[in-house]
Amino acid sequence: MNIVRRQMLLGAGALLAAPRLVLAQAPLVVTPGQTEGPFYPVKFPADMDGDLVRVRGQAAHALGKITHVSGRVRDRKGNLVKGATVEIWQCDANGIYDHPGDNGQRRRDTAFQGYGRVQVDGDGRYAFRTIKPVPYPGRTPHIHFKVSAPGVGRLTTQMYVAGEPQNETDGVLRRIRDRQARDSLIVRLDPGDDLEAGALKGSFDIVLDT
Ligand SMILES: [Fe+2]
Repeated sequence: MNIVRRQMLLGAGALLAAPRLVLAQAPLVVTPGQTEGPFYPVKFPADMDGDLVRVRGQAAHALGKITHVSGRVRDRKGNLVKGATVEIWQCDANGIYDHPGDNGQRRRDTAFQGYGRVQVDGDGRYAFRTIKPVPYPGRTPHIHFKVSAPGVGRLTTQMYVAGEPQNETDGVLRRIRDRQARDSLIVRLDPGDDLEAGALKGSFDIVLDT
């Protein structure tokens, strides 16, 4: 065996024998809270499951680009928050909320559920099937979120889509001065064909301030 090869083998052995590097866990970036806005449901829909693209009893699918949004709910130490409820609400593909305060009700896509609610699973994970949020006058695309974990914490916030030009000028998003905190609300949407042909998918992890 030549010397170089022997050193390589020794090097590899030393690497294997080295104790595993333990990285100190930095506290996670707490997901910033945002205004609830005026369109949280005044009356919950009959169907309020995690699939906003289909309304129970209707054959039609919602207009818009189907988008799977999922993530985990954790505390700032990274522990999974079990038993959390995650609610979302957003406007339909025409920019209309299912809310009497939105004066576009006649143009509303009644095949879009508009609001959904799920419990996290044993891994602290939630998932929704919805549509890619669209802009409406004065706002960049967003999905409203409300997370409640009894005895642990609550959070009301909004999720945004990476690359949307109006993110730069949206007053609600820009209100978050801390760059890391603001970026934590902006989610990249990728092709989600592994979940559903032609769909998009995005991952939005939520860190409660607890
Ligand atoms: Fe909104």
